Amino acid sequence: MMVSDREIDEAVGVLRGGGLVAFPTETVYGLGADASNPDAVGKIFAAKGRPHDHPLIVHVADAVQLANWAREIPEAARRLVRKFWPGPLTLILKRSPRASDLVTGGQDTVALRVPSHPVAQALLRRFGGGVAAPSANRFGRVSATTAEHVRREFGGTVDCVLDGGAADVGIESTIVDLSAGQPTLLRPGWITAQQLEGVLGAPLAAPGLQSPRAPGTLAAHYAPQTPLMLAEGDLLVELAGSLTRQGRRVAALAFLTLRPLLPGLTWITAPDDAAGYAHALYASLRRLDEAGCDAILVEKPPQDAAWAAINDRLTRAAAGSSALDDT
Ligand code: TXA
Ligand code: MG
Repeated sequence: MMVSDREIDEAVGVLRGGGLVAFPTETVYGLGADASNPDAVGKIFAAKGRPHDHPLIVHVADAVQLANWAREIPEAARRLVRKFWPGPLTLILKRSPRASDLVTGGQDTVALRVPSHPVAQALLRRFGGGVAAPSANRFGRVSATTAEHVRREFGGTVDCVLDGGAADVGIESTIVDLSAGQPTLLRPGWITAQQLEGVLGAPLAAPGLQSPRAPGTLAAHYAPQTPLMLAEGDLLVELAGSLTRQGRRVAALAFLTLRPLLPGLTWITAPDDAAGYAHALYASLRRLDEAGCDAILVEKPPQDAAWAAINDRLTRAAAGSSALDDT
């Protein structure tokens, strides 16, 4: 572990004092506050520029603490917890009185997760309570997968940043709603729908109109500042060529190892396995964004199940871009 016991103690002191601690999880970095302290939780919304009706995930050290935050734990939750916790899975359950309106966005449910990252585990164990934490990025932007990203995103507004290295998974947790009737997949993630269905022994429902709000599921989200477009490989090279001829600067994330020779082209060759791709995705998008180009072109990944969460994030990043173009 790259973080010392002393640093964990300091971070726990910051949480107890109502401050903000950014910490690594196996998915992405979280921006945490004591979930039982409304003033502290309020600081998260202020730092992120996040609307108050967008609820937060409460992180706890182990499944035993579920009962503190949820008033009902259905059999489906027990099964998923046994198989996937600690790990990149968030469960939506009926909330207990301890889960405040600020944390839940006024909904009757609460999001709970037990992360597996050793630094997150050490922090949560030593703290003892629940840590409310969204991804450590400004609202609507690309999640942070390193401590350096967090520092660049928030500067001095975060009291403590624990550096646990680059997040392993690289994209946010899978979210399953178990608070009403049929289990519903609210956000795809590294744990796939097929894996969940295998453990549940029943199909997952897709989010319907009456499903709870999940801003990570807004069409435009996870977006870099530079307009982003998805394209098949051949089209990507053509587009890059024509944009370059118009004097535009292009950044690209592509599987093609044959990088086209174009002036002012910033190029990242993407890993061709889904795990490697997810791990590097947000760091790559940040690097391409920082190149200050006129467009980011991303080669469309395969459409199969292993790539579902990646395709979800890229589609939302592209949707975010057209929204930027319009305004
Ligand atoms: O991997 C992750 O989940 C990371 C790490 C830090 O744990 N966290 C994360 O948090 O991605 P955030 O706030 O960026 O995304 C949490 C998602 C949001 O889309 C939020 O709306 C949804 O969870 N959510 C939280 N509470 C909810 C609830 N009671 N009902 C439905 N959705 C909820
Ligand atoms: Mg987020």
